[in-house]
Amino acid sequence: VIETVTARRIIDSRGNPTVEVDVVLSDGSLGRAAVPSGASTGAREAVELRDGDAARWHGKGVDRAVAGVDGEIAACVRGRAAADQAGLDAALVALDGTPAKSRLGANAILGVSLATAKAAAAAARQPLYRHLGGPDAHLLPLPMMNIVNGGAHADNPLDFQEFMIAPVGADTFAEAVRMGSEIFHTLRRDLLAAGHSTGVGDEGGFAPALRTAEEALDFVMAAIERTGYRPGADIGLIMDPASSEFFRDGVYDYAGEGVRRTPSENADYLAKLIDAYPIVSVEDPMAENDLDGWRELTARVGDRCQLTGDDVFCTDEALVREGIRTGVGNSVLVKVNQIGTLTEALATVATAHRAGWTAVMSHRSGETEDTTIADLAVATGCGQIKTGSLSRSDRTAKYNQLIRIEEELGTAARFAGGSVLRRA
Ligand code: PGA
Ligand code: ZN
Repeated sequence: VIETVTARRIIDSRGNPTVEVDVVLSDGSLGRAAVPSGASTGAREAVELRDGDAARWHGKGVDRAVAGVDGEIAACVRGRAAADQAGLDAALVALDGTPAKSRLGANAILGVSLATAKAAAAAARQPLYRHLGGPDAHLLPLPMMNIVNGGAHADNPLDFQEFMIAPVGADTFAEAVRMGSEIFHTLRRDLLAAGHSTGVGDEGGFAPALRTAEEALDFVMAAIERTGYRPGADIGLIMDPASSEFFRDGVYDYAGEGVRRTPSENADYLAKLIDAYPIVSVEDPMAENDLDGWRELTARVGDRCQLTGDDVFCTDEALVREGIRTGVGNSVLVKVNQIGTLTEALATVATAHRAGWTAVMSHRSGETEDTTIADLAVATGCGQIKTGSLSRSDRTAKYNQLIRIEEELGTAARFAGGSVLRRA
């Protein structure tokens, strides 16, 4: 049973404060979890409680969230069975009492939810992925590796937020990491040779001063080929335009490119990119408030491209159900802090899978050294993870954890490869 619950302030990969929680059980087992934070957040995300005191941490302090864990939340969960994750999470949701977890904060609640899961795994003397996923959890996810950053994650003119590579032709997870790393370094040399900056953005991908998606895709394609891989067969391309960020007054305003596109023109533009490049997945191709645009694009290319909803679903099972019913995309991005408890995040994955949709486990742009999502990707068997570049320890920590899990599983391990991109 849970004996103590304590929180502290640590700093995330952007240098902002965030919540870390320790849960200790009566047998001495410790679970520790740190909470990530987004920059291009969806409007319907669970609320991250920030102090708003401009004199401290530029308003981003988490003292109230920490106090909530140490006080009210600790008092509520002390004595509960750590193994009853669903019961614990339901108690946390009820204690908060608001629809978006705005009273105690999803950052406070998620820290306790994840730390408890890890403590329960420790008590059962099992790795987290097995504790949550059972003895059959053996699928290593296809990594979506971010190598070019733009949008809200960099200061360059690129309108799209993320350009990623996925080693669909790799045989193992470790090989996928090697392939990604090799391409990352080729890209660095190519950018340098072309006179571009090789500084990196929030998720560790390069942030060169490019203006159009085509320019970025061409650099990525060249780097894949020059490294000795075949675009398409070995490496699939993935983009996250994060288009809610530049959808204004019913129009997609590509400020870097200097072009405005109506929803139909945007669907047209994306469909052309999907046909011109070996793009296997696009996240948030249309804005969270442009469901008609989402449906138009899904009808057009949903049969040949994974269309993953991030802002539009916010890891909320109810919103995913609605998307399934109304033809908005065919896949959901899963960010545990968008919804605020482990149980709810797992329910979202299960609902997606039941409908023949895919689910992609994901980091946030503000991360820590916490590697819980690596284990969650294996536990759920979702087969895909998006956790940033092949640089910066906040990103590589997750890849390294998956390398360890693959090694631990030995011959039982199976690498998802490209076959997971569509379930239906
Ligand atoms: P965020 O963005 O973590 O900054 O919200 C990541 C994404 O849009 O996928
Ligand atoms: Zn996104």
